[in-house]
Amino acid sequence: MIISIVLYSLSMAFLLFIIVCGFSLIFSVLSFAPWVPSRGRDLERIFKLADLRPGQTFYDLGCGDGKVVIYAANNYKVKAIGLEISLPLYLVCKLRQALNKQSNIEFKFKNLYKENLSSADAVYFFGMPHVLNEKFCSKLKRELKPGAKVVSYSFKLHDWQPKITDKPSEKDLPIYLYEM
Ligand SMILES: C[S@@+](CC[C@H](N)C(=O)[O-])C[C@H]1O[C@@H](n2cnc3c(N)ncnc32)[C@H](O)[C@@H]1O
Repeated sequence: MIISIVLYSLSMAFLLFIIVCGFSLIFSVLSFAPWVPSRGRDLERIFKLADLRPGQTFYDLGCGDGKVVIYAANNYKVKAIGLEISLPLYLVCKLRQALNKQSNIEFKFKNLYKENLSSADAVYFFGMPHVLNEKFCSKLKRELKPGAKVVSYSFKLHDWQPKITDKPSEKDLPIYLYEM
């Protein structure tokens, strides 16, 4: 009897976990972008544009599996923060963080639109073109400090003129740098 109650509770908890994962995945697709990781070979280009200095704060808005955040923390001695709304991806980030043992990494299970970005020196994102809209741009404008860098992978921000468009060759994806 006790064993069947325990098994029932475990299967209900597992079902709830699967439902939360499913909903958070659907929400992420509708909200900003589905999980499509930035190419590993583009990390160098991304961080050349971000031009990070030790002690600065770097954000990846919608950090996926945490690859970009971990790269920033390991290579630039910055405080690297990743925001992720999809529960399974967030759990992957936390696992990678535990294995990495860096103290300057923070992953938050959080909607990027709800985070105040005023402490950021550089923000990075790979969002769908239709969400890089006026609403998103006005959040950046309102919250980011003067001089903060904004690096957008593949897609331009609505109505903003990039300071640099980095696209070394025809087969490379463009990366856009904006400065507040
Ligand atoms: C195109 S992927 C980019 C992943 C990572 N930044 C990279 O470059 O490899 C976009 C990520 O944003 C996450 N996402 C979508 N909407 C979000 C939201 N409102 N708040 C936080 N993360 C979100 C998705 O789950 C997905 O992992």
